[in-house]
Amino acid sequence: MTQHLRVGVVGAGRVGAVLAARLRSAGHEIVAAAGESDASTQRIAALLPGVPTEKPSVVARACDVLLLTVPDDMLANVVHVLSASGALRAGQYVVHTSGRHGLDVLAPAAELGARVVAMHPAMTFTGTEIDLDRLTGCYFGLTAGPAEREFAAGLVADLGGRPLWVPEESRTLYHAALAHGANHLVTLVTEAMEMLTAAGADDPAGTLRPLLGAALDNALAQGDAALTGPIVRGDVNTVAAHLEEIAANAPHTMPSYVALGRATLSRAVTDGRLVPIRALRINQLLEEALAESAVRPVYLRDVRDARDGR
Ligand SMILES: NC(=O)c1ccc[n+]([C@@H]2O[C@H](COP(=O)([O-])OP(=O)(O)OC[C@H]3O[C@@H](n4cnc5c(N)ncnc54)[C@H](OP(=O)(O)O)[C@@H]3O)[C@@H](O)[C@H]2O)c1
Repeated sequence: MTQHLRVGVVGAGRVGAVLAARLRSAGHEIVAAAGESDASTQRIAALLPGVPTEKPSVVARACDVLLLTVPDDMLANVVHVLSASGALRAGQYVVHTSGRHGLDVLAPAAELGARVVAMHPAMTFTGTEIDLDRLTGCYFGLTAGPAEREFAAGLVADLGGRPLWVPEESRTLYHAALAHGANHLVTLVTEAMEMLTAAGADDPAGTLRPLLGAALDNALAQGDAALTGPIVRGDVNTVAAHLEEIAANAPHTMPSYVALGRATLSRAVTDGRLVPIRALRINQLLEEALAESAVRPVYLRDVRDARDGR
């Protein structure tokens, strides 16, 4: 364990409450947490029993290590307000958990002499106890100056995690990679479950679990070489049949099927497993199906309906 730390949390959201609970179980003291909504208050009660709820400036003054676990778009403002109000001090550690931000966003704190760290857990959080064990072995995208690196690595170790050092200029790309993999996976899997339900499956999740588990394991181990299915085999007629069925029964999934189909085509050709002439034919089918589907994202429909007073 790093030396005994007095930690404060602004705010007690999904990430803040869970990281604080894990640090507490590693022997550190959580001196106070900020969070006003019912959800944050309930998380403090559930994960950090006995920890007082205070305003952000009070939390910042009370601690030696300040965890800033606020939404990405709020972070700059929170740092600015805390710095300007005199709540931060020289020598204090100020750590945020945003993936896309590095140290730049903490500049007002650094100018006061605070020791700044960007520490992003490469994990998805529910804000409940379930998350605590998931931190074990989880990578944390770390950005810190030379003088803070040892502290940052120690904090990650106390959280049960592993350090992944990310250069300041690569933070957003690092975060885009994780969002593309994890967030788009949720959309992909949910669409697949809907299609299976439409096909009559009564346990879509159970049907997909072994298949997707194997595909994920294979992709993580082998990359493109893990690819199977009609696109990499060049089964033009099968892809055409898929597109017809999707247009008839699950038209809202057409844009993502086509986008991922195109990306899969490119990768299969580059990998040398699909001849370009076949890829061109399949690409043509994909383009035609998309053009005919005329599916508009639901949010565009909602915006238009609201505008037209419907
Ligand atoms: N969720 C994830 O899976 C995940 C994973 C890795 C990293 N992260 C990163 O962790 C950070 C926090 O994300 P989250 O998902 O935990 O967010 P969240 O659940 O929405 O919680 C945000 C917390 O910040 C507080 N807050 C919001 N605006 C504030 C302000 N202006 N001043 C002070 N406190 C404010 C909220 O308080 P109230 O409840 O009172 O509004 C809440 O306690 C983000 O940088 C995010 O990118 C998230």
